[in-house]
Amino acid sequence: MAEQKTATLSFDGKNIELPIYSPTAGPDVLDIRKLYAQGDVFTYDPGFTSTAACDSTITFIDGAKGELLHRGYPIDQLASQSHYLEVCYLLLYGELPTAAQLEDFESRVTNHTMLHEQMMNFFRGFRRDAHPMAIMTGVVGAMSAFYHDSTDISDPWQREVASIRLIAKMPTIAAWAYKYSIGQPFVYPRNDLDYASNFLRMCFAVPTEDYVVDPVLSRAMDRIFTLHADHEQNASTSTVRLASSSGANPFACIAAGIACLWGPAHGGANQACLEMLREIGSVDRIPEFIARAKDKDDPFRLMGFGHRVYKNFDPRAKVMKQSADEVLELLGVENNPVLQVAKELEAAALADPYFADKKLFPNVDFYSGIILEAMGFPTSMFTPIFALSRTVGWIAQWKEMITDPAFKIGRPRQLYKGETLRDYVDVENR
Ligand code: SDX
Repeated sequence: MAEQKTATLSFDGKNIELPIYSPTAGPDVLDIRKLYAQGDVFTYDPGFTSTAACDSTITFIDGAKGELLHRGYPIDQLASQSHYLEVCYLLLYGELPTAAQLEDFESRVTNHTMLHEQMMNFFRGFRRDAHPMAIMTGVVGAMSAFYHDSTDISDPWQREVASIRLIAKMPTIAAWAYKYSIGQPFVYPRNDLDYASNFLRMCFAVPTEDYVVDPVLSRAMDRIFTLHADHEQNASTSTVRLASSSGANPFACIAAGIACLWGPAHGGANQACLEMLREIGSVDRIPEFIARAKDKDDPFRLMGFGHRVYKNFDPRAKVMKQSADEVLELLGVENNPVLQVAKELEAAALADPYFADKKLFPNVDFYSGIILEAMGFPTSMFTPIFALSRTVGWIAQWKEMITDPAFKIGRPRQLYKGETLRDYVDVENR
C-alpha cells in the first residue's frame, strides 16, 4: 500500500497536513476538506481556477496539450469515427456499446422524442420574438410538471427514464422554439430518421412540400452535437451539479444548466462570435477589432477566442474548422465573406504577440456559428443547439454526482468584506 502523500500548510504556529491525491491523468489535488476545522481558515478561489470541485471519470482535458478525452477516447477520433448517440452511450455508461446495446439505446431515445401534446401551450405563451434560449429554459423546467414519474432521483429507474427523455426531447424542444419564432407550424419527430436528421427535418420541413435531409449536412450536424457533448466541470455543468446537490429534480437542474450556458462568455459565444464577424464585415477592418480586443479600456473581446483551460488550442475548433470547409463547399458558399473574415481574423490574432502571449486561441465557438449559419440557422439558434448537444454531458455529470454515496449539498463560503455588527438606528435618527 503506497504511503499517503501529504502537503504541510504552516501558518500562525500551526502545521496542517493535507492529503494529496493523484489522478489517472492531470495534476495532483490537495484535500482541504478539514482545513477550516483544523486551521479556522477558508481557501479563496472565486473563479475556481485552482479548485477541483469533484472527482470524475467522464471527461479529461489537458489544456496545455489541447487534448479532450471522453472516457479515454480522444474527441477527434470520436468526431470522425463515432456518432452522437454512440458518444451519448459512452458518456452515460462508461464504455462504447456493443451493436445490440447501441440498437437498444437508439431505440429508447427514438421512442421518446415526442413532447406531451399539452406542452405546446408553453411555446404559445411566449412572444414570437422570444429568444429560443428563454423558451428552452422555460419548457425544460416545465417538464418536471409533466413527467412526475421520473423526478425521484433516488430511484435508478426514474433517473434512467429522465435521462432518456431529456436527450430525446431536446431536439424537439429546440426545433419547436425555432418554428415558433418564425411563425411556422411545429413538425413532429419521425422514428425512421437518425437523431441529427430528425432535428434538421423538424427545423426546416414545412407541410407544403417534402423535405429530404442532405446526408452531408446531417453528418455535419451530428458532428457538431458530438463536439459539444461534454467538457468536464465548465460553468454550466458546475451549475447543474450544484443545483442537483440540493436533490432538485433533473429537469429543473438541466434548466439551470441551460440558463448558465446562455451567457456570452460561455455557450452564448457562438452567437456573439458570428455577430462580431458580421460587425467586422470585411478583412480590411480586422486590425481595428484586434486593436480594440487588446485595449484594456475597451471591454470588447474577440468572441470565440480564449479558454479557461485550453492554453494551446481547442481540439474541437480544429475539427470544427474542417467541417466548416466541407459544409460551405457543399453548399457552394466557400467564398462566404464571414468565413473569409474568420480565417483572416484567426491568422491575424495568432500572429499577434498579445494573443500568443496570453495563449488565446480559437475555441469551439469560433467556427460553429459559421457552419450553423450556412446550414440555414439564425444566430439565435446557435446556443440552443449547443444546449441540445450538452444535455448528455450535464446528465452524465449529474448521474455521476447523485450516485456517489458521499455526495452532499454544495455550500461554498466567502471572504466577507462587509460591515461588522452594528445596532439598528430609527429613521428619525439617521
Ligand atoms: C465555452 O469552460 C468550458 O469548458 C467552456 C466551453 C465548454 O465546452 O463548456 O469550452 C465552452 O464557453 C468556450 C468559451 C466561449 N467564450 C468566448 O469565446 C468568449 C470570449 N472569451 C473570453 O471571454 C475568455 O477567454 C473566457 C471567458 C473564455 C476565458 O476567460 P478566463 O480564463 O477567465 O481568462 P481571463 O478573462 O482572465 O483573461 C485572461 C487575459 C485577460 O487579459 P489580462 O487581464 O490578463 O491583461 O486574456 C484576456 C483578458 O483580457 N482575454 C482576451 C480574451 N479572452 C481573454 N482578450 C481578448 N479577447 C478574448 N477573447
